[in-house]
Amino acid sequence: MFVRNKTLTLASAALAAAALASGAARAEDVFKIGLIVPMTGGQASTGKQIDNAIKLYMQQNGDTVAGKKIQVILKDDAALPDNTKRLAQELIVNDKVNVIAGFGVTPAAFAAAPLATQGKIPEVVMAAGTSIITEKSPYIVRTSFTLPQSSTIIGDWAVKNGIKKVATLTSDYAPGNDALASFKERFTAGGGEIVEEVKVPLQNPDFAPFLQRMKDAKPDAMFVFVPAGQGGNFMKQYAERGLDKSGIKVIGPGDVTDDDLLNDMGDAVLGAVTAHIYSAAHPSAKNKEFVAAYKKAYNSRPGFMAVGGYDGIHLIYEALKKSGGKSDGDSLLAAMKGMAWESPRGPISIDPETRDIVQNVYIRKVEKVDGELYNVEFQTFEAVKDPGKAKK
Ligand code: PHB
Repeated sequence: MFVRNKTLTLASAALAAAALASGAARAEDVFKIGLIVPMTGGQASTGKQIDNAIKLYMQQNGDTVAGKKIQVILKDDAALPDNTKRLAQELIVNDKVNVIAGFGVTPAAFAAAPLATQGKIPEVVMAAGTSIITEKSPYIVRTSFTLPQSSTIIGDWAVKNGIKKVATLTSDYAPGNDALASFKERFTAGGGEIVEEVKVPLQNPDFAPFLQRMKDAKPDAMFVFVPAGQGGNFMKQYAERGLDKSGIKVIGPGDVTDDDLLNDMGDAVLGAVTAHIYSAAHPSAKNKEFVAAYKKAYNSRPGFMAVGGYDGIHLIYEALKKSGGKSDGDSLLAAMKGMAWESPRGPISIDPETRDIVQNVYIRKVEKVDGELYNVEFQTFEAVKDPGKAKK
C-alpha cells in the first residue's frame, strides 16, 4: 500500500512538473496585445473598423510571429477615459500584455499613456489624432494621423481656390481644437476670413442650431471636423437645413466623409473637398486588394480607422520579427522606430524621433463613381510629418 501510494505520488509529481514546464513554455510563446477600443456608444464604428481590420490582417498573415502565438485581448472602453485607464491597468498587471493598442479618441490615448510608461510597453495608437499624444509617453507609437497633417493642407487649398469666407464647426475637444487652429492659421495667413466659429459637444451633438448660424453667416464654405462615426448624422442635418442648396460647401479634414459612412450620406455630400490620409478609392493595387478583402469579410467598406488598425497590427508583427522574437517593450519600440512600409493608404513610416506617422495627405472630392459615393483623390502631398510638432 505504502509503495503503491509512493509510486502514485511520484507519478503525479512528475506529471505536475511536466504540465508546469509546458505551461511555462506556452506562456512564453504567447505574445499578448491588449486592444482597447470603443465597441459601444457614439464612437463604436471606430472600434468595429479596427477590430475588423486586425482580424482580417491576422487571417491573411497567420497568428504566429517569430515563434510566438499572437493573442489579441479585445476590451470595450466606450471611448470613456476612466474605462480606458482601468482596462489598460488590468491588461498590463493581470494579463501581462506585451503591447496596448487601439484608442478610439484622444482622451483614451492620454489616459493610457502613464501606464505605458510605467509598464515599459508600447502603446500603439491606431485611431486618435491630436498632435500632442505622442509626447505623453516615450512608449507611444502612432499609426493613425494627426489633425494638423490634413487641416493645414486644406487651409492652403481653400486660399488657392478662391474661398474667402469660411464658417467653422468643430467638435469641442482636443483634436477639434487642433484641426481648427491649423486650418485657421493657414487660411487667415493667406488672406481668408473666418466669419463664424462654433464648437459642438463630442457626445451626441445636435448640429441643427449650429447649422442655422452657419447658414446666416453666408460663408463660401464651412470647415468641419467631427470625429469618425458622426459624419452621417452631420450630413443629414446639413441637407435638412438646406445648406447644400445655399451653395455652402463642406471642406475639412476627411473625418466627416469617412468611407465607412459616405455611401449612405446622399447627394448633399457631393462636391465636399477634404484633405485626408485614406480613401477607399485610393488607386493602388495594395488598396484594391485590401478593400476587396474587407468587403468580402464584412460586407462593408473600410474607412480610415480600419486602415489605422491594419497598419497598427502590421507594425506590431514586423517589430516582433525584427527584434527576433524579443517581446520586451524596449526591444519592440527600437524595432518600430523608423519602420517603413506600403499601407493601403500609400507609403508610410514611423518617424524615429517623434514615433509619429509620416504619410501622404491627399486632397479629395466626393464624386459618384459607378453609382457609389467616393472620396476621389486629385492631389497628393508626399511624406507629410505632423506640422503640430514641427512648430515646437
Ligand atoms: C480623436 O479623438 O483623436 C479623434 C477621433 C476620431 C477622429 C479623429 C480624431 O476621426
